[in-house]
Parts: sequence; C-alpha cells; structure tokens
Amino acid sequence: MPGRFVPTVASNLPRLRGVAPLLLLIALLPAHAASGPGVRAEAGVVVAPEPQAAEVGLAVLRSGGNAVDAAVATALALSVTHPEAGSLGGGGFALVRSADRDYRALDFREVAPAALDAALFLDEEGRPDTDKSLRGGLAVGVPGTVAGLHALLEAHGTREWRGLVQPAERLAREGFPVPHYLAAQLGRLGHRLDPAAAAIFLPGGAPPRPGAILRQPELAAVLKRIGRGGPSAFYDGPLAERLVARVREAGGVMTLDDLRDYRVRELEPLVGSFRGHAVVAFPPPSSGGVALLQMLEMLEQLPIADDPRSSATLHRLAEVQRRAFADRSRWLGDPAFTDVPLGRLLDADYLAARAASIDPARATPSTELGPGDPPAPDGETMHLSVADRHGNVVAMTITLNQAFGNGIVVPGSGILLNNEIDDFALAPGVPNFYGLVGDEANRIEGGKRPLSSMTPAIVEQHEPAARPLLVLGSPGGSKIISAVLQVLLNVVDHGMAPQQAVDAPRIHHQWLPDVLGVEPDAISADVRGALEARGHDVEVGAYPFGCVNAIGLDDAGRWIGAADPRRESVARGY
Ligand code: DON
Repeated sequence: MPGRFVPTVASNLPRLRGVAPLLLLIALLPAHAASGPGVRAEAGVVVAPEPQAAEVGLAVLRSGGNAVDAAVATALALSVTHPEAGSLGGGGFALVRSADRDYRALDFREVAPAALDAALFLDEEGRPDTDKSLRGGLAVGVPGTVAGLHALLEAHGTREWRGLVQPAERLAREGFPVPHYLAAQLGRLGHRLDPAAAAIFLPGGAPPRPGAILRQPELAAVLKRIGRGGPSAFYDGPLAERLVARVREAGGVMTLDDLRDYRVRELEPLVGSFRGHAVVAFPPPSSGGVALLQMLEMLEQLPIADDPRSSATLHRLAEVQRRAFADRSRWLGDPAFTDVPLGRLLDADYLAARAASIDPARATPSTELGPGDPPAPDGETMHLSVADRHGNVVAMTITLNQAFGNGIVVPGSGILLNNEIDDFALAPGVPNFYGLVGDEANRIEGGKRPLSSMTPAIVEQHEPAARPLLVLGSPGGSKIISAVLQVLLNVVDHGMAPQQAVDAPRIHHQWLPDVLGVEPDAISADVRGALEARGHDVEVGAYPFGCVNAIGLDDAGRWIGAADPRRESVARGY
C-alpha cells in the first residue's frame, strides 16, 4: 500500500480510453465483477456514486472538515454531477454516528402537499391510476434535500454552509465532463424530460457524449442564492413561487405554504443486534431499517449459512425477505400518521415464530393480493458513506424516486422535481413502481411522508470502538433492503472483506410479486434447479441489484472504502 497519508484513489471504472469500448465493457460486466480490494484509507474516506463529487468531499476531509461537512459538500456536488438522483428537488435520510457512538437519524423525506388526497389519483372509473403518482404535478412531494443537508450541517458539522455550497456552484457554472452513467441514463430516459429539463440535459436535442462539458448556469445561480440565504432561498421567495407554479401547471395541488411548512425531523434511530454486533438503522418512514432488523433476527434463529451461494442459504434469505416485506405492506408508514407497532414487529419471540414458519425444503407461497409488476430497472437514488479520522461517519441516501424524478425542472433553476408520491400505496394491494403493495398505514394523506425502502445503516464492532465495522446503504427501490442485508451478512457471517462483500452477487424477494429475483450470473444452473425444486419462481433480473457504497475496516482497523462496481461509484480516501 502507498505510504501513510498518501492519497489512495481507485475508480471502479475500467481504465480504458474511448467511449464505445467502455460502454460495451460496462454492459458486459457480470453483476458480480470483482473490483479489487477497495480503497484503504488511514484517515478519511468518501464512497459516492460519482467521482467528481467524491473529490469534493475528499477535499473537505483533507482540509480538516468532519464526516458531516464532507457528506454535505459531496451531496451538494452530486446535485450537479449526478442530477438523475441528486438534484435538489428530492429528499432522503441521513444516519450519523459520532466518534463516541452517538447516533442521529435525520429525516428529510419529501412530504405530501396538504391538499393531496387519495381520491385525486383515481381515474374516471374510480380505479387507482399509477400514472398520476409517477407523472405530472400530483406526483411531486415537497422536496426535503436542501433543508435536510442544511440541518445536518447545523447539528453535526463544523463548516460554514456557504463554503460547502461553493464547489457545487463552481461545478454547475464552469461545467464538468459528463460521467458515463449520466450519459447512458440520458440516452435511455431523456424522453421523459420536460422541455426545460431537456434544454439543460439534452443540449441540441441529444444526450451529451461522456466527457462532454455540461454547464448548468441557472442551477449555479440558484446554488449561489442558496449558499448565501440558506434553505429560505429554496422554501420561500421567487424560486419557491416558480416551483409551486410549475407543479400546479402540471396538475398538482402544492402551495407556497407547503414549502414554507416543510420541516426536517430528527428521529430515534433503531438499534438492533446481530451476532453480538450492534446494528443501527433508520426508523420509519424508512421501511428498510425495520425490515433489516427483522431479517437479521430471523436469520439468527436459523442455522448459519456455510456457503453463501448454496441453494439452502439463498432459500433462507428469500424466505426471511418474503416475511419482512409482507409485514412492511401491512404495518409500515409515516409514524406521524400511523401507529407503527415497532416493539411488536421487532419482538424476538414474534420473529422466532416467523423464522420457525420457514420450511427448509419448500418456498412458502405468498398470499394472493393481486399481481405486482416486476420491479423495473430505471429507478434512481444515490447513497454515500463518509468517514473521518475521528470515527464520525455518515450514511446518507437521497432520491428523486425514478431517474430524473418526474422529468420536470423548476423553470429557471435547473432543479429536477421528484415523483416520490408513488411510494405511497394508492389503494390497498395496488403495486407501486417497484411492485410494492401497501395498506392503510401507507395511504396518501396531506402532510404525510411516503414509506421508503432507503436503508442507511451502521454496524458496530463487537467491542465498542472508535470506528464502526460497516457503514452502508444503496439505491435500488425495494432491492435496497435486500442489498444492504446481503452485504452485511457477507461481512459478518461469511467473513468477506468489504469490497468482496459489495461485489458478491445478490438475490431479492419482496413477498409480492412472489418471485425470487437473482442477478445475472448470480447462481449456477444447479442452484437454480434446487431453488425451483423448493417451489421458488426464479427470475433473472435484467439489471444489477442496487449499488451499495460501503465503508468497512481492514484487519489493522483502517478504513476500506468499498464502492459498488455495478454503477459508476468510487471510493476516495487519504
Ligand atoms: O424511497 C424509496 O424507497 C424509493 N423512492 C427509492 C427509489 C430508488 O431507490 C430508485 N433507485 N435506483
């Protein structure tokens, strides 16, 4: 390894010149492509979905900023360089762990406008119309990202907000080489963009080539105002007025008061345990934390898997996922609106009984609740993990829901708006974009936050220590939850190094649809046969599952930044 405190930089992108071979290689890369040992870092590390933004965060760490400062600067830079997920019109969750093991969960999820009502999402025949929760003004939740990043910094950072906005503003004003992943996303999904968005992201009517310089002067001007004025420059005044006007023009019911009333919430993190490790996870409106802790508790009741790829192991994994997702559909929603019985859902006896209902020889058929659409590939969310030299860490997941959200840009701002309202259950049993079903607990109500699969999580070492064992999270819609679970198991149960744990192939079961998804090349024909013999309907996903950006430790206790090779993520450390 390079000398102490010498920067170590590793990109997961193959080092090839020229666009065509690179894109071809990415397309051909097996989902479980090994990507080296990860980035070893003595002091601090940023693992993020886009390299230029990761550099911004690394510079903050190097100049003495803490993990929160670096996470905020990275996320702001990602709003420019990774707009498909990071644009400021979305929301997210940040899980923070201080060097002395104080945990904070900051909820800046989007909120349903006060006038939103499930009846608005019915078609002429009174049936739920999922187009309305994905497209147009009704699909837009009140964005939380600007308020969330600012609150995060105020509470746990050490730097001035304005200084952390500046690198993002510069990237927007001066432009940056378009990353391959963004170019590919625009090629596939550019047709979704409204004219104002297309004018920015499809210059001359076509997606930019990777490496072309993309400038976003309007976004730069907005960032400058937000840098000076803080969140009020977003939630009040001319930008807020334009945002509301555009949403209403597109059929929405959002008002200026909805924006002014937006509040970041500090929630009590969930703390569970797995094989003696404390596992810290995000509470509802994330469904991921509850599901993760439920699945880990059920797995503790079952024999430890020896071979992570055997059909017995994968069957067990599928069955615990099935059970957690079934509970999700019934019980989970925004705790400000629905009484989420956390104690009962995480009760050890209850979960032992659930685990006991798993038959090692047979898949349990999911109950009939209407067919779910198979999860589609073009969701867009991003996760970043940041750690500093003291042991402060941040696991933060931010989303617009689908790639480029709603496709609607707030005129004159370059900010894309989310379509997060689709994460509500339009009606009991009606699947959302990710095929997830829900019930009363997650029905649409004004002022409520839609249930999320985002699962930022932190695993502590056996003995309390300055540095945690694992910091992680992922995009991927419903597959976030299973991706986080499997990376955690790969480290704790299978003794994999962090990068190996991230690279390893994944499976996914979400109760409904009753299908066991596997990544391309994830399982052998024998294992597939053995799973089918147990009654699993095995389906090979067309796309990789999630993109887990994790930080772990090596044997000497140094950070290891483990970026997921499935997308364009990188780890940068020093
Ligand atoms: O909050 C959620 O569960 C979804 N809106 C996340 C969407 C997502 O992860 C898409 N990413 N690939």
